[in-house]
Amino acid sequence: MPTTRHRIALIPGDGIGQEVIPPATAILDAVGRRHGLAFTYETFDWSCERHAAEGAMMPPDGLMRIRAHDAILLGAVGWPGVPDHVSLWGLLIPIRREFEQYVNMRPISVFDGVRSPLKDALPRGVDGGVDGGVDLVIVRENSEGEYSTIGGRFGHGEGEFALQESVFTRTGIRRIAEFGFALAEERRCRLVAATKSNGIVHTMPFWDQVVDECAAAHPDVTWHLEHIDALAAKMVLQPGDFDVVLGSNLFGDILSDLAAAVAGSIGIAPSANLNPSGERPSMFEPVHGSAPDIAGQGVANPLGAIWSASMMLDHLGHRDAGAEVLQAIRASLRDGYLTRDLGGTTSTAQMTRAVLDRLGAH
Ligand code: NAI
Ligand code: MG
Repeated sequence: MPTTRHRIALIPGDGIGQEVIPPATAILDAVGRRHGLAFTYETFDWSCERHAAEGAMMPPDGLMRIRAHDAILLGAVGWPGVPDHVSLWGLLIPIRREFEQYVNMRPISVFDGVRSPLKDALPRGVDGGVDGGVDLVIVRENSEGEYSTIGGRFGHGEGEFALQESVFTRTGIRRIAEFGFALAEERRCRLVAATKSNGIVHTMPFWDQVVDECAAAHPDVTWHLEHIDALAAKMVLQPGDFDVVLGSNLFGDILSDLAAAVAGSIGIAPSANLNPSGERPSMFEPVHGSAPDIAGQGVANPLGAIWSASMMLDHLGHRDAGAEVLQAIRASLRDGYLTRDLGGTTSTAQMTRAVLDRLGAH
């Protein structure tokens, strides 16, 4: 088998970010050996720890150093002592924007063996799941929208006020909507787009209109707009009804944590920051943060990082390898390996071992 080589930039970051990246690379190496893939890793110490020592999350030429890699695998950044907006805007957002990773994609599944806090949320389809089970993807706009820097704080005392502008461009809405509809076509052909055009009267009606224009090119997809508040309630009450959920930057952010919680734990949830053109590297990261409350104890759930690595394999064109990793995750959970966040006692190392043992063993 000819070997395909990939150069991966690793940014473990802070806290449990450093504990979940080694499991992810161990899994990549193992599945890579079976599929003729060789990964070389370059590790960057960009983090709040670096910020404390050197005054910046990453060096000034940081983005230049990782722009030629095939992909970026990130653990988590954030630590007490460095304000969260500093860690986010000092590292994650520059990477997402500079590399035009305008899609943030977060799949959510309930797995056999994992108890959702909602008793009616069950696995879907595969391996004994049910038709109405939970298997959905949040597609979040990742480059504009509500997360803009336009605005400021003005005045003093009682007269002080803050102003923050949202930016919605036709290009930005169209490309994320296109991605969402195309993904729905590969899945179960259903899409819900989050809106709030009753309360937000300029940007949201524009969003609705451009999404609707994109829908015309995808007649096979059954879709509708739904106000974010009602949508949030429905995601809790009937999570099995959803396939692709499309949202702006803010709405997608909130819905993806909500959906991850519905599935049982944010410790499992993965995410991909995609540049679908492939011209610049995409970034893969678990949804969870650095979890200072459990960092250093060896109990972090590595599955969010491992599933993120599986999404990286898909993106690099190795879908069989990606599917094998997901299958090994599913089998490990089904066999009863549960970390503390899932109500069990399995350690990070034991969970990693379980997935490694099951790779290709189904
Ligand atoms: P968090 O996700 O770090 O933790 C929330 C809760 O979930 C904690 O009780 C934690 O122990 C638990 N948890 C999270 N991941 C887990 C895992 N893999 N296994 C087991 N338990 C897990 O969110 P929190 O506490 O709000 O944020 C902590 C720091 O992380 C902050 O500085 C925040 O800014 C940062 N953060 C970074 C993100 C990123 O890098 N993309 C995303 C979210 C938060
Ligand atoms: Mg979030």
